[in-house]
Amino acid sequence: MLKGQKTSIRPIEEDDIDTMYPWYNDQEVNLWSSGAWPLNTLQSKDQLALKFLDGSPDIYRYVILDENELLIGTLGFKEVNIPAQSVALFVVIGNKTYWGKGYGTDALITFSRFLFTQWNFHRISLDTWDGNIRAIRAYEKVGFKIEGRQREARFVLGNYHDAILMGLLREEFFSLHGKL
Ligand SMILES: CC(C)(COP(=O)(O)OP(=O)(O)OC[C@H]1O[C@@H](n2cnc3c(N)ncnc32)[C@H](O)[C@@H]1OP(=O)(O)O)[C@@H](O)C(=O)NCCC(=O)NCCS
Repeated sequence: MLKGQKTSIRPIEEDDIDTMYPWYNDQEVNLWSSGAWPLNTLQSKDQLALKFLDGSPDIYRYVILDENELLIGTLGFKEVNIPAQSVALFVVIGNKTYWGKGYGTDALITFSRFLFTQWNFHRISLDTWDGNIRAIRAYEKVGFKIEGRQREARFVLGNYHDAILMGLLREEFFSLHGKL
């Protein structure tokens, strides 16, 4: 278990699916996380379990717990590029009552440290869309920088939005948050 200030992180387990199920059928959660609502409609628990537990071996999934070890979100990494030591990160705090209270930033700092120290990655990438100010702000607090913008690459609630590409290098992270 990885320990942050407010959150802990552990690999996803089968019993987590029941808690996660409502998040992935929630319009608001999907809107912010994919920036492409309506994207998926009512997934069954079986579909969700298949995606999260038996999915691609190239996607590494974990869950985020609060101070009382209540499951509040998921995160993980994919697109591992061995020669470049780079990886793409994704995160969703599915329990909406936890938004804007620092849990996402804390989980991202904890997880980024794990990726830089234990996995020896050199670079972490992620992307979001220009309307997701809360996510961009949280990523910036972790140390991510905006590196690019794909014009009108997302379609959200009837309007085109730019995709925002962000990146974080290991030394930048260590200078902001320390190595341990
Ligand atoms: C994105 C997410 C992980 C961030 O985690 P969080 O715990 O909510 O974020 P934090 O509280 O750590 O930080 C959010 C920051 O954005 C700021 N913020 C929130 N809404 C804002 C707004 N409309 N304008 C400006 N700043 C805003 C907060 O004040 C805070 O910054 P501060 O600490 O400097 O005050 C979480 O909100 C989430 O999972 N949302 C739904 C799914 C999603 O968007 N996933 C990301 C897909 S790319």
